[in-house]
Amino acid sequence: MDLKDKKVGIALTGSFCTIDVSFRIIQRLIELEAKVKTIISENVCNLDTKFFKASEIKEKLEALTGYKPITGIPNAEPIGPSKMFDVLAIVPCTGNTIGKLANGIIDTTVTMAAKSHLRNSRPLVIAIATNDGLGGSAKNIGMVMNYKNIYFAPYSQDDPIKKEKSLVFLEDYVIETIKNSLDGKQIQPVIR
Ligand SMILES: Cc1cc2nc3c(=O)[nH]c(=O)nc-3n(C[C@H](O)[C@H](O)[C@H](O)COP(=O)(O)O)c2cc1C
Repeated sequence: MDLKDKKVGIALTGSFCTIDVSFRIIQRLIELEAKVKTIISENVCNLDTKFFKASEIKEKLEALTGYKPITGIPNAEPIGPSKMFDVLAIVPCTGNTIGKLANGIIDTTVTMAAKSHLRNSRPLVIAIATNDGLGGSAKNIGMVMNYKNIYFAPYSQDDPIKKEKSLVFLEDYVIETIKNSLDGKQIQPVIR
């Protein structure tokens, strides 16, 4: 599926070490002439970390897309009713956010965006990045992989020796996953 003029939402959650990957993916989507808007979780909106200041993330997203990121549950609620996106991708998606999605907990901007978007039966792409992907989050990842209209960017163990339960999405396959999700297809293999 060609992404030209496709309305693509990119939601960022607090895997702060992979936020720069998200910037590159947004840049690439814009080069492909997709219409990109971003959504950020409360933690991305507010936390200064060793990777970025919260203000830097917001400024970068606005510079890339021309729009301020969507913040706050009330601002994410219209995403579904207005059919704001053809596809929404959570890049990166934390263990926290996938746990909420697995269990129908909608108490952040990003989970609200996902729920609102999914009501239109349009694709939601997940790019997982969590140190407990093969631990506490494993059941949640499994549950969400089984849900309708949800597609996973391929992921792998990023450091099986030092972080034996860690899973992280593979940057190179995110855009291909987004494209295929618009055709209702999950790219394979998911686990690489
Ligand atoms: C520097 C830093 C890096 C983090 N990296 C990750 C990560 O890669 N994956 C993850 O699941 N959580 C990570 N966390 C924890 C999340 O930010 C935390 O669970 C938060 O509640 C996530 O909220 P959100 O999913 O609404 O953004 C990190 C936290 C900090 C401070």
